Amino acid sequence: MAEGYFSSDETRAERVQELFDAIAPRYDLINDLQSFWLHRHWKRRLVSLAQPTTGQRALDLCCGTGDVAFELAAHGLEVTGLDFSQSMLECASERNSAPRVSFQRGDALNTKLSENHFDIVTMAYGLRNLSNFEGGVQEMHRLTKPGGKMLVLDFGKPTFGPWRWFYFTYLKWLVPVFGRIFCSDAPAYAYIHESLEHYPAQDGVAKTMRDIGCREVAIHRILGSAMTINVGVK
Ligand SMILES: C[S@@+](CC[C@H](N)C(=O)[O-])C[C@H]1O[C@@H](n2cnc3c(N)ncnc32)[C@H](O)[C@@H]1O
Repeated sequence: MAEGYFSSDETRAERVQELFDAIAPRYDLINDLQSFWLHRHWKRRLVSLAQPTTGQRALDLCCGTGDVAFELAAHGLEVTGLDFSQSMLECASERNSAPRVSFQRGDALNTKLSENHFDIVTMAYGLRNLSNFEGGVQEMHRLTKPGGKMLVLDFGKPTFGPWRWFYFTYLKWLVPVFGRIFCSDAPAYAYIHESLEHYPAQDGVAKTMRDIGCREVAIHRILGSAMTINVGVK
C-alpha cells in the first residue's frame, strides 16, 4: 500500500488488519529495536499493576504475538488472547508453550465473549488502532467482572513541549526507517505517529473510564508520558 495505513473512514479496520498481517513475521524484532528492548519492561509493568493472583482469569485484547498473555500466564492465570490478525495469531501460537494460554480470532470492539467474566482485561498498543477507542474501553468494561481491573498500555502524549517535540520527531521520522529496513514498508511504521495524532491518549482513556463508571482510575506515566498505562476498576 503506497499511501499509508491510517484512515479515518470505514476502511480503517481493514487497513489496520492488512498492516499487521504484513508485518507479523518481523513485529517482535522491530518492537525490540524501536523501543531499545524497553517494551518488554513496560509490558511486565502493565501486568504487575494488574496485581495478578494464581487462578484468576485474564483476557488480553489485541494480543498480537502474545507478550502480555504469556506474562499473565507466568503469574498462574488462565489467559485468553484475542486478535483479528491471523498472521499475528500464528506467531503467537508458534511461541506458545504455556498450557494456560489460548488464542482466538475476534474483533476487540465486539468480542462476543461473556460479560463479567474476567478478573483482568488488558490491551497493550491496541486501543489506538481501533476505529472507536471508546467502544474498545466499553467492551473491556463489559467483559470485566465487578471489582476486576482494566489496563491499557499505549504510546502517550507528553505534556512537556520540548520532550513531546523530540519524541514525536523520533516516531514520525526515525521509526519508519525500521519499517523500511526490516519490512520494506516505511508506511507501516509511519502509522504509529499518524494513529497517535488521532488518539486522545492517556487523558482521553482516563475520561472514558470515568464516564463509564470505573473506580480508582489512574494514569501511570513512563519516560515523561512517552508511554502510559491507564488503570481502572469496574
Ligand atoms: C501494535 S499491535 C500490539 C500487539 C501486542 N498487544 C503487543 O503489545 O505487542 C496491535 C494489535 O492489535 C490488533 N488489532 C487492531 N485492531 C483490532 C481489532 N479491532 N480487533 C482485534 N485486534 C485488533 C492488531 O492485529 C495487532 O495485532
